[in-house]
Parts: sequence; C-alpha cells; structure tokens
Amino acid sequence: MRVLLTGAAGFIGGRVDAALRNAGHDVVAVDAMLPDSHGAGAEPPAGCRVLDIRDASALAPLLAGVDVVCHQAAVVGAGVNAADAPSYGSHNDYGTAVLLAEMFAAGCERLVLASSMVVYGQGRYDCPEHGPVDPVPRTRADLDAGVFEHRCPVCGAAVTWQLVGEDAPLRPRSLYAASKTAQEHYALAWADAVGGSVTALRYHNVYGPYMPRDTPYSGVAAIFRSELESGDVPRVFEDGGQMRDFVHVDDVAAANAAAVASALDGFNAFNVCSGRPISIKQVATELCEVRGDALPVVTGQYRSGDVRHIVADPGKASRLLGFQAAVDPRDGLREFAFAPLRA
Ligand code: UD1
Repeated sequence: MRVLLTGAAGFIGGRVDAALRNAGHDVVAVDAMLPDSHGAGAEPPAGCRVLDIRDASALAPLLAGVDVVCHQAAVVGAGVNAADAPSYGSHNDYGTAVLLAEMFAAGCERLVLASSMVVYGQGRYDCPEHGPVDPVPRTRADLDAGVFEHRCPVCGAAVTWQLVGEDAPLRPRSLYAASKTAQEHYALAWADAVGGSVTALRYHNVYGPYMPRDTPYSGVAAIFRSELESGDVPRVFEDGGQMRDFVHVDDVAAANAAAVASALDGFNAFNVCSGRPISIKQVATELCEVRGDALPVVTGQYRSGDVRHIVADPGKASRLLGFQAAVDPRDGLREFAFAPLRA
C-alpha cells in the first residue's frame, strides 16, 4: 500500500517508517522538523520531506494515490504551562483537521492515528466494598501525609487499580490530553461523515533507543535515563508504587504496521501496551541495577496533577488487530539503560 506517514523523523515515527517499509509498503514520509523537537536547522532523515501538515497546499499533492495515512506528527508531553495551549491546538488539532480535509479531497478514506493513554485521565479503580468507582481527586492533605492511593467516593477506603479498557470514558486532564482527545473526536466525526476508517492507537508509556533526552515535555523513562547518564540517581516520586505500562518503541511500530494492514470499518480505538504492568520504582530499579549504579531514591515528593495508576488492557488490540507486544518491559528497560538517546 501507499502510506503517507507524518512525524516520520520523530522517535516513534522513525521506527514506524522502518516497520512500514519492512512490511513492503510504499512510504511517503514527512515531518515538520519543529526546532523544539529536533533542534534549530536540523535536516530530515534520508527519504523524509519537510512538510508541516497545516500547509494544505503543500500536503494536497502528496496525498495522490495514498491508501492510508499514518499520522504520528504531534507536539507531545504534559506541557509546561498554559502558554503551550496554542501550540497543542494548532499542531495537534488544526493540523489533524487540515489533514482530514485534504484526505477527503484526495479520496483517501483510511487513517491510523497516534493517540495516547492521556485521553483516559486517571485510570480505573475498584473499592473493596463498593466495586468499580470513580475516585475523588487526591487531596493535598493525603499526599502530604504520604497517602498516595485514591479513595472511594462513598466510604473513603483506599481503592485498587484495574486494567483500563478502550470503552473507559475520555477525561483529559492536561492541555496535551485535551488536544489528543479532540484529535480523536475530529477523526471519529470524519469517519462518520465520509464513511472512512480510523484506527486510533492509544500509546501507553513508550520508551526505547533514540528517545529524546530529558526535557520539560519528557516522560519518566527519559528523565531516569538522562539522570543516570549525568551521574545522578533517579528520583522516584510518591512511594514508587505508581503503576504504568511501558511499551517498547518497536512494539509501537509493530502495532502501527498491524493497523495499516487491518481492514476495520468506522472508528476503532486500541490500547498499545505491553500488557505487563510495572511500578515506577521497578522501572528505576531495573535501570540502576543493570548499569551497576546506586539504587534509586524514593523521595515521597509528588507532582500535582500526576495520575496515580494507569494500566492498559491489551485484549482488544490482540483480538482485533492481532497485535501483541514482543518486548517484556523488564528486558526492554535493561537494554534501554545503555541505549543512545536523541541529542
Ligand atoms: C507520560 C507523559 C504523557 C504521555 C504518556 C504516554 C509527560 C509528563 N507525561 O505520562 O504525556 O502521553 O506518558 O507516553 O510527558 N516520576 C518520578 N520521577 C521523575 C518523574 C516522574 O517518579 O523524575 C513519576 C511521576 O510522579 C509519575 C510517573 O513517574 O507517577 C510517570 O510520570 P510521567 O512519565 O511524567 O507521566 P505519565 O503520567 O506516565
């Protein structure tokens, strides 16, 4: 198939590019080469054109004969403050809106969309007494006292985490999450309007070689890895018991290849995860142990707005896309401890 791949020069896009080419697809690779992500004046990798998807007239000719668009381009991370809102809105939402309009004009009816677990907000929880509950936000008093688990809204007991399925309500809690949720909504409305197909891949915590170094927009794997490289000890917040699903970038690329090859109708969303939950303390410990460095420090500090647990259910992607992650995070993270990072 002919696949237009956006964000092809990124940490994830670069591996998706390789996976699609390996699968025999004809890839039209584009990237805006945003200075905040790639550094000022960075050249695109071989075979990738510089294109900002918001530029409809430059995008239109590239869509001729394209069967599927694989849309990885996005401004990522939790953001620093409200000043980031226009950038998320412009690149992630307006950019997707332009792309969808030009796909319609070109008669291209299939989209694979890079989405994120952030659309769920804070995960799924059960109370031992009251079953599935929507927990109340953690209070400052609890966090200051080292009580990090959410409480049941009915009885106040600590709740336990459950796997999050794709039917969980979308409750974005950051500007980035708002932009990714809106992106999914535009894509769903487009699929309904044009009779097209959208596969939204909700990535959980992605890590792997050439991950960007520690920036205010980085996730915890890049932060720990950068700390180790500069001789510091990873600082684990709360009690380190926060559960996540860390998925290797090559598995994310394989999920995209599976989505491109699939023939699903309408809008479908999938968790892209390893299916092997791991705590943040364990992540830090794996990285330290394999490097032979001092063990991480559990600080008991907390960041306001952090999600306590978000752990994905991998079942739907396995059933409908035939995607199962190959890399166990315990192995992948040990390899990541020495992997090169992007400058
Ligand atoms: C992260 C991203 C999110 C992205 C998602 C999926 C950020 C800030 N968050 O969400 O945008 O969509 O992954 O890839 O980019 N922690 C420490 N020590 C540190 C830093 C963090 O212990 O030095 C802890 C945090 O308190 C949190 C956990 O690690 O409990 C994960 O943090 P982080 O990776 O930033 O956020 P996620 O919620 O996993």
